[in-house]
Amino acid sequence: MSHRGAGWLERTEREQEEAPSRLHDWLAVPRGAVVADVGAGTGYHSRRLAAAVGPMGRVLAVDLQPEMLERLRERALATGIRNIEPVLGSAADPGLKDACCELILLVDVYHELSQPYEVIRRLVAALKPGGRLVIVEYRGEDASLPIHALHTMTEAQLQLEMAVQPLAWEATWRELPWQFAMVFRKPG
Ligand SMILES: C[S@@+](CC[C@H](N)C(=O)[O-])C[C@H]1O[C@@H](n2cnc3c(N)ncnc32)[C@H](O)[C@@H]1O
Repeated sequence: MSHRGAGWLERTEREQEEAPSRLHDWLAVPRGAVVADVGAGTGYHSRRLAAAVGPMGRVLAVDLQPEMLERLRERALATGIRNIEPVLGSAADPGLKDACCELILLVDVYHELSQPYEVIRRLVAALKPGGRLVIVEYRGEDASLPIHALHTMTEAQLQLEMAVQPLAWEATWRELPWQFAMVFRKPG
């Protein structure tokens, strides 16, 4: 998604349409944790993660578009949030240090990755042992969603692609209105 469409990520109806608050309650991110929001865009989810981890925690907000990171910085500053660290990634490398994170979140990002295998390999390295990778995608199984099919994935598709990664599938959560969330854990 181009930064030119960034306004859509911050639309006021998003809470009602996608129930992000429910997603973050379910994530139950511990206070003080270091987490990453990969494909952070304008930081819609980074800001929620920042509130969850609190001042002793940190959110590494990765994107490959500098313009998105600029918007993310501006919004974080405007709302007085100081624990989000923008990170400029590349198509194959999110630019995170090894074993830096307890949780890595990708919301509506995996389907956009041009080199998904390489990116996920790097994210596995960036997780601490026992850490969680959570991937949220619009449900490709549901033709009634007001989302173009190109921007959706089926659970089966994601399971197949993730099967080659050194992660254990843990759960699939289907309580969001438009998306599913899949949890993978790095062996501890
Ligand atoms: C649809 S937006 C979702 C933004 C945010 N996660 C949200 O839910 O508001 C997808 C974002 O992923 C980013 N992206 C795509 N490929 C990426 C990659 N390889 N590394 C980091 N970010 C990427 C895009 O630049 C864009 O900002």
